[in-house]
Amino acid sequence: MKVAFIGDVHGCVLHALGSVLMLQQRRGVRLDAVVQVGDLGAYPSADRFDGPSRRFILDSPSQGDFFRLLDPTPELAASVRGALEQMPPVLFVAGNHEDHEWLASLHAASAGAGVVAVDPLGAFHHVECGRVVDVAGLRTAFLGLMEAPGKMDLDEAAYAALLAAEPGSVDLLITHEGPYGMSRGFRGEVQGSPKLTRLIEHLQPPLHISGHVHHENGPRYYGSTVSYTLAQLVGPKSTRYKPEGVNPEQRVTDGSVGLLDTETRAFEYLHDAWLAEVHGDDVDLAGIVAAGAV
Ligand SMILES: [Fe+2]
Repeated sequence: MKVAFIGDVHGCVLHALGSVLMLQQRRGVRLDAVVQVGDLGAYPSADRFDGPSRRFILDSPSQGDFFRLLDPTPELAASVRGALEQMPPVLFVAGNHEDHEWLASLHAASAGAGVVAVDPLGAFHHVECGRVVDVAGLRTAFLGLMEAPGKMDLDEAAYAALLAAEPGSVDLLITHEGPYGMSRGFRGEVQGSPKLTRLIEHLQPPLHISGHVHHENGPRYYGSTVSYTLAQLVGPKSTRYKPEGVNPEQRVTDGSVGLLDTETRAFEYLHDAWLAEVHGDDVDLAGIVAAGAV
């Protein structure tokens, strides 16, 4: 079976759906599951945004596409329904840029279900931290957020539960943050989480996928685990470090989408030229849907 992985989306949900459809069309595959590694940008409204999200959406309006999905026009609803006839819904874990209280309320309203749809069309489903669910036949553990004091910190009970699980009982581990020492940030700081390194070394899943740092990183090896980190799906138009422009045409970034063959366990970062065709402040999802399924 085939599973696609998507890096940090930060609200650009139409780019995410478009990328998945294009992957199927251009690679001639049918995906059995799609997993997104957090920072989907799941806020019920812009007034719930955090500071960075408020700043970036001024320059990159597609970071507000999640809100369009929550209250779709008839045209957008038809496009998303058409997309979901061709692809599976996207499972995602929480990052550090989501409304965690809102996500928790959706689970509570669904009688404590571990997986809940967050939009009325059911395109994106949040998986609660600490859950192990079947993803295309793989026992897949999900642990969102990041190791940081305060409200963004890893869920203590979920972390403890996964740390108590039998080594070898998980085929695939999905986290938002990556293992400690994986990279350095703009200011030279060491990135990654010691607690996630400990979890990977304990569980020894054959495959670990994360996001958060917004650039491709890996493969990295931790015992029998191979770990990959995906790039941000759509980089911002400009940043305070690069005001001259980073991604003015809002194209999908190389290394932000991964593809796994569950039989061979082969994982690859996609660097295909067609990724950049999924672009713009207003992605032409209807056009991509119309190109058809394989
Ligand atoms: Fe992010």
